Amino acid sequence: FRIAVFASGSGSNFQAIFDHINQQKLDIHIELLVCDRPGAKVIERAEKAGIPVFAFCPKDYPSREGYEQEIVNKLQEKQINLIVLAGYMRLVTDTLVKSYYGKMINIHPSLLPSFTGLDAIGQAFEYGVKVTGVTVHFVDNGMDTGPIIKQEPVNIHETDTIEELEQNIHKVEHRIYPEVIDWIAGGRVKLEGRKVRLTPKK
Ligand code: GRF
Repeated sequence: FRIAVFASGSGSNFQAIFDHINQQKLDIHIELLVCDRPGAKVIERAEKAGIPVFAFCPKDYPSREGYEQEIVNKLQEKQINLIVLAGYMRLVTDTLVKSYYGKMINIHPSLLPSFTGLDAIGQAFEYGVKVTGVTVHFVDNGMDTGPIIKQEPVNIHETDTIEELEQNIHKVEHRIYPEVIDWIAGGRVKLEGRKVRLTPKK
């Protein structure tokens, strides 16, 4: 099962996925890292792991369709089964969604549909909610709007600082994202309209 990870920043989720696959000896292979920020730390992680990187500057292209078409070509070349957005700080357009709907997932650090978009952890913290969490969902044309595969709540305690909340969120992300990828690789995730069904392990 061949996956491509898209990331823009630190890549702690990339690392968690890579480590989980290795430790569990899963038949899942990260064939490509796509990164829209050539200086990002995630690139170092990929190089250390021996994973091919496609890094690009969006500014070098006349439009989003331009670099996305180049990405689609690379994904097809490598026969990618699943795109995993892991801190990819950029909206994807129809160029990708048309070819990969149902085969592209994202992780978002809130319980969607609350706190979409940037800085979801900060938004939840400032709002004063007592429970936030993590959502893994299929990607559609909207921002953080696609069908939900898994959610896990994270409590916000009165004594929590934003840094502690961030840590608690990331801990959950690093555990559930590899798990969901494993479900999908095992053919256990069925998309029926907006509803996602998980079939039992054989
Ligand atoms: C994560 O919080 C993820 O939910 C969000 O961006 C962050 C990426 O962190 N979409 P990292 O680069 O994986 O460390």
